[in-house]
Parts: sequence; structure tokens; C-alpha cells
Amino acid sequence: MPSLTSVLTDRFAAALTQAFGEDFARRDPVIRSSQFADFQANVALPLAKELKSKPRDIAAQIVDNLDLDGVCETPEISGPGFINLTFTPEFLASTLTAGGVAAAPENTEPQTIAIDYSAPNVAKEMHVGHLRTTVVGDALARTHEFLGNTVIRQNHIGDWGTPFGMLIEHLLDVGVDSDEASEVSENPNAFYQAARAKFDSDEAFATRSRARVVKLQGGDEETLDLWTTLVGYSREYFNRIYSLLDVTLTDDDLAGESTYNDVLAEVCDELESKGLATISDGALCVFPDGFTGREGEPLPLIIRKSDGGYGYATTDLAAVRNRAVNLGVNRALYVVGTPQAMHFDMVFTVARAAGWLPETFSPEHVKIGNVLGSDGKILRTRSGAPLRLAELLEEAVTRAKATLSESSVDFEPAEADEVARIVGIGAVKYADLSVAHDTSYTFDLDRMLAPIGNTAPYLQYAGARIRSIGRKAEAEGVDASQVANAAISLGESAERELALSILGFADVVAEVAAGSTPHRLCTYLFDLAQAFTSFYEQCPVLIAETPELRDSRLRLSAIVLEVLQAGLGVLGIRVPERM
Ligand code: ARG
Repeated sequence: MPSLTSVLTDRFAAALTQAFGEDFARRDPVIRSSQFADFQANVALPLAKELKSKPRDIAAQIVDNLDLDGVCETPEISGPGFINLTFTPEFLASTLTAGGVAAAPENTEPQTIAIDYSAPNVAKEMHVGHLRTTVVGDALARTHEFLGNTVIRQNHIGDWGTPFGMLIEHLLDVGVDSDEASEVSENPNAFYQAARAKFDSDEAFATRSRARVVKLQGGDEETLDLWTTLVGYSREYFNRIYSLLDVTLTDDDLAGESTYNDVLAEVCDELESKGLATISDGALCVFPDGFTGREGEPLPLIIRKSDGGYGYATTDLAAVRNRAVNLGVNRALYVVGTPQAMHFDMVFTVARAAGWLPETFSPEHVKIGNVLGSDGKILRTRSGAPLRLAELLEEAVTRAKATLSESSVDFEPAEADEVARIVGIGAVKYADLSVAHDTSYTFDLDRMLAPIGNTAPYLQYAGARIRSIGRKAEAEGVDASQVANAAISLGESAERELALSILGFADVVAEVAAGSTPHRLCTYLFDLAQAFTSFYEQCPVLIAETPELRDSRLRLSAIVLEVLQAGLGVLGIRVPERM
């Protein structure tokens, strides 16, 4: 997958070396998109300051040494010292025909990346917040795998803690094999709420529940069996949602809170012996540097409660230690809601103070914003209950199916179902992905399913249309292997724009991986689809003036499809054959 900016960066490295010496070889040429050219290089500005010279003079010195033969037209210096760069059509065309435009580049320094995402809670409904961390996390996992990095998925499910006392007692009350119990694998809310209601109103039940927590933590076998049953039901539920969503998480990726039980005491001991943790009001706390409350008082991270129990923070300390020390990853991404920012900030600070995080390791909180209803508040049903995710997704599929009736394609029922799923689920996922992950957005199925605009259906339709052009060409007897090897000509400006857009793929995927910003890829794909639409409007394909031009345009279209598919693929969205 050729990267346009790295082609330029290489040429600049040579020019900078020649003009200013070896020390400048690795200087960032600061290549940015430009209004006046394909790109501009802004390196002359910072360099001028350093070399105490005029930016335009520095730019001229660079240009004098810049060999862009076979790549760009003669560069121009504009404004205070920008170097404007415009690719030659021959370079763009030959880069396209060299192939592999939509394939990942060779990864010479593969990284290992832990991605903590989804993380729903056992015996509870997944909510739209979980939907978003699931979708964003999965897109990041796919992006890194596409680029040849190793991904360790860590589904940090909430499968431990005090609520399990009441959940297990309720399980015993209704019967392990009862319908109420197995309902947890379909609609967990009812079970949870029934347990909660009893806990709040029935003193004897509450007492039993508390005793049950102690048994669970003490490793009592019967209690652990009951707990395993409950977790198993929930796992079925999670897996059903994952398969509906077409996300890559499997049981092998489960690394729930309970996984760390055995090391929590040791984590606390270590922090205590390193002088980082102290007893405060009976609880063992760390007061990490730089965290203060409203009155300036130091804020604690509680790692062992006064009753001896461990909590969410202790588990996350154990988890980050495991990722840094045992899994040996380069990066650990935490795709979790923004409200937990301070929690992670504190956990990472404590882990660093404890010496668990090597220099080469970076923990990163990928903050997930809220999903809002049309009233601007966190999405709920009209009755105020949390929304059932499965129902929401089914509704998206149903509505997608309704829009298919407007399609000119005459679908067989099975294909209609399949396409409705691809489009409906794709639309929901894309809506999650196309806005910056840390901003909130309004859940609006009509907008998500709109055939025009920055939506999945728009992109899927662009892909399906290219497929249909290909089928038409074939029906007209155009030789497919001739198209696959056709020379590409970029005579029309719409063709040139499209070529440039296609070749931006490599850079945007690298950017998404580096900054955990899938919405960049969405914007890119939307621009690409629009560039294709303009091309298609302005350049006749099947009725092009010559067979050579027709084949060139068919090949260009086929490459767009490859990039659309690869791009949507790393986002976890499929393109239907027809729509
Ligand atoms: N189960 C938690 C929740 O629903 C999210 C866990 C996120 N991951 C973590 N390592 N803390 O809010």
C-alpha cells in the first residue's frame, strides 16, 4: 500500500541532507494537504528559525536540492515559504497500476497492542455506551491487525463484586435451571431488577446476599459453581449481541475482573511495601501525585476497603500490571466511557509510580462519549428504562429492510434479509464510528440509514454500484483480465482527483492506528465515495470514447471498490453484493 506522504518524505530527507547535512536527514518535512497543490511541505519555517535565515531562502535551498523526478511537477514556493507539491499524472497512474493500493504495507516493526473494549457487566443489559466501546474497540482491533500488528483483545467484563451476592441468592430462589434464570441469556435486566428489588425490601434476603459475597470471595465451591452458571448465561447473551454486531470478540478474549482475584492481595502488598499505599479511615489508599479534590485535599485511590474487599481500582491496577509486565505489550488501549477518565489517570499514575510501566509502554484511555436520545439526554426508552440493545439492533435491521423496497434490485427473500442486516447493523456501527469517539452524538436511526450523507448506506451503495458496473461490463463482453491490466489514464480532473483520493488510504489508516481515530477513516471513505460519484457523473465509463479509456475507468472503479471494502472492512462493516 503506497503512502504518498512517505514517498515525499523520502525525497525530502535526501534534499535536507544535501542542503544542510546529515543531521537534518530525519527532520519532519511537515507535509500537509494544501489548497493550492496536492500537498505542501512547511519544513522551511521551523528550519529558518533554527538556522536564523529567511524561510523563503531556506525553502529555495531545499527546492534546489529536491529531486522529484518522476513524482511531482516542479515545486513552487508560496507564502512565507511553503513548498507546494503537485504529483504528475504519470506518477499517480503508475502507482495505481503497480497494485496493492488497498493492501497493508509491509510492517517492519510490528507492535503488540492490548485493547480493552466492550466490557459489559454480567447479569446486566448492555447499554448503548457498551455498544459504542464495542464498536470502536473492534474497529481499532481490526485496524491494527490489518496493519500487521498483534492485537490482544481484553474484554474486561464486570463479573465480580458485591452484586453477585444478591444475584446468586436470587438464582437459588428461582432455581438454577428455571426459565427466569436462563432468561439472563436473553434479557438480563428482569433478573437483575428482581434481585435488586428483593435486596432492597427483604432484610433476610439482604443478609443472605452479604453472606454469599463472603463465601464467593472465600472461594466456596458451591458458590463458585453458581457464579459460573450466571456468568455462562451472560456470556451467551454477550455472544449473541457480538454476533448480531459482527464484532470479533470471542470467549478467548474474556479477561474479566475475576481473572485478577488471585493477585489483588499481592498488588496491595507491593504498593504498601513500596511506600505508596497507606491506611486511611481503615481503607488502604494510594494518594497519587497531582490529584486533588475541590478543597485541594489529596484524592485517594482506594485499593482495599475497610472490610477487606477489593474494588474496581485494584482490579484495574492488576490488569495494567499484567498488560505491561506479563503480556509485554507496546500499547494498551482502554476504550471506555469518558466519565472514567480520572479513574484511569489515577490508575496509570499509580502503576507508573510502582515501576510497573516500562519506558516503551503506553497506556491510553480512548474516551468514549455519550449516545443521546432525541431529547438530548442519555438514550433510554420512553418509560425511562435502559434500552434493550438487541431490540435496538433488530429495529435498525427492520428499518433497513424497509428502505430496500425502494431499491431497483429485485431481491430474493434470503438476500433481502442478508442485505438488511449488513445495511442496518452497518449503519448503526458507522454512526458510532464517524464522529470523534470522545464526542456525544444523537442516536437517530433515520439519519443513520439515510442513503445520502456520511452514512454506511451511502458508502455501501457506492460499493454496490461499482459492482453493478463491473457486472454490466462483463455482460457486454468486456474482458476482465484486460481491465485488470489496463493502463490508467488520468486526463480528466475528476479522474485525477479520484486517483489522489484513492492513494490517500495508506496515510489515513496509519493515522487511525496511531491516534485511535476511526472517524478519520470514515471521513476519508466519504470523501472517496464522493470523488467516485463526481468521476462517475463526469466520465462515461461503459460508453467511454475508446476501449482503452473504458478499461482505464473500469480499472479505476475497481480500485475504488477495493479501497472501500478494505476501509469499511477495518471498521467492521461489509459491502453487500447488490443493494
Ligand atoms: N465494566 C465497566 C463498565 O461497564 C467497564 C470496564 C472497562 N475496562 C476497564 N479495564 N476498567 O463501566
